[in-house]
Amino acid sequence: MTASRDIACRVRGFGAYTPVDVLTNFDLEKFVETTDEWITTRTGIRQRHRLAEGQNASDAAAEAARLALADAGMEPGEITHVINATCTPDYLCPNTACLVEAKLGIVGAMAFDFNAACSGYVYGLSMARAIVAAQPEARVLLTATEALTRRLNWADRTTCVLFGDGAGASVITADGQGALLEDVLCASDGNLGGLLTIGGGTHTPYAKGDPVGDDFFVQMNGRDVFKHAVRNMAAISQDVLARNGLTIDDVALLIPHQANLRIIEAVGDRLGIPADRVFVNLHEVGNTSAASVPLAIADARAKGVLRPGMRALLATFGGGFTWGAALLHF
Ligand code: ACO
Repeated sequence: MTASRDIACRVRGFGAYTPVDVLTNFDLEKFVETTDEWITTRTGIRQRHRLAEGQNASDAAAEAARLALADAGMEPGEITHVINATCTPDYLCPNTACLVEAKLGIVGAMAFDFNAACSGYVYGLSMARAIVAAQPEARVLLTATEALTRRLNWADRTTCVLFGDGAGASVITADGQGALLEDVLCASDGNLGGLLTIGGGTHTPYAKGDPVGDDFFVQMNGRDVFKHAVRNMAAISQDVLARNGLTIDDVALLIPHQANLRIIEAVGDRLGIPADRVFVNLHEVGNTSAASVPLAIADARAKGVLRPGMRALLATFGGGFTWGAALLHF
């Protein structure tokens, strides 16, 4: 057992933010060759939120962070680390965590971004646990934010109907307060990265004035993603339960990455957990990638579905490919 697994790492505050602007499937029908019926039956999604003009991933993260800090009863100045998960940062440089830090009035914290696509929040829990294990007085602000509607190709109906914008945030400490992070496991397979991409990095050497190509936007082989997502989310969930001597019967609520209702149902079936113990809110927000799991946690708490005393199993899968699972005891 590693040292970081021995530390009582706790998630002490939760916050979530979705932009005001809502795009329903019926709104999409007006400019995408699709129907509400197709989107609802294939994915479960009914609407998604979209950042306003001039509002960016860092703004959404800062909103979620303020709520997480209030939930934790903490001031921004108490934060020692800001770690931010995103695959749609405001800039390649500066990192979004620094922008969030500035928006919150924090100066002097360690601040960096990381990209594990939809697995960002669970990867972030793993990093936060390592930070508080190395530095028990650390107070880590983990944000997970996405501006995915900025990278959708509205001419590609196979992807543009799936994604939305939003942010989630948590404060992680070892001070004995909040939900206990019992364990977290993360994994990846970089050989499959080409199945789900968003360009705009330096791989494609754009010159000034060049138009952007299709590669600039989300591109995905949906069927392959579906297959790998189900297999890996279920397998890593079983692994994290097994190494803690638990079974699915010990889990009060499965909170999976909100990508697609059929993926969620297939993972639930593989794990043998009844549907009434699986939290779903993707019909309201679509797939918000890194923000998906913390948005779902905040929503489940707000709706009274996730209550003190309950053990939640978080399971996620995303581009990279990356995947992970965590046990949080509220
Ligand atoms: N509206 C109407 N018709 C559409 C749309 C749309 N938005 N998109 C595709 N179609 C059509 C296709 O053109 C195709 O028509 P054809 O048979 O005439 O060629 C037909 O619907 C079926 O298309 P498929 O791509 O085969 O549809 P499928 O049933 O596989 O569903 C989907 C597509 C929903 C993307 C599915 O593959 C899936 O759920 N994949 C999982 C991927 C996912 O959710 N990823 C999320 C991001 S990754 C992550 O977060 C982990």
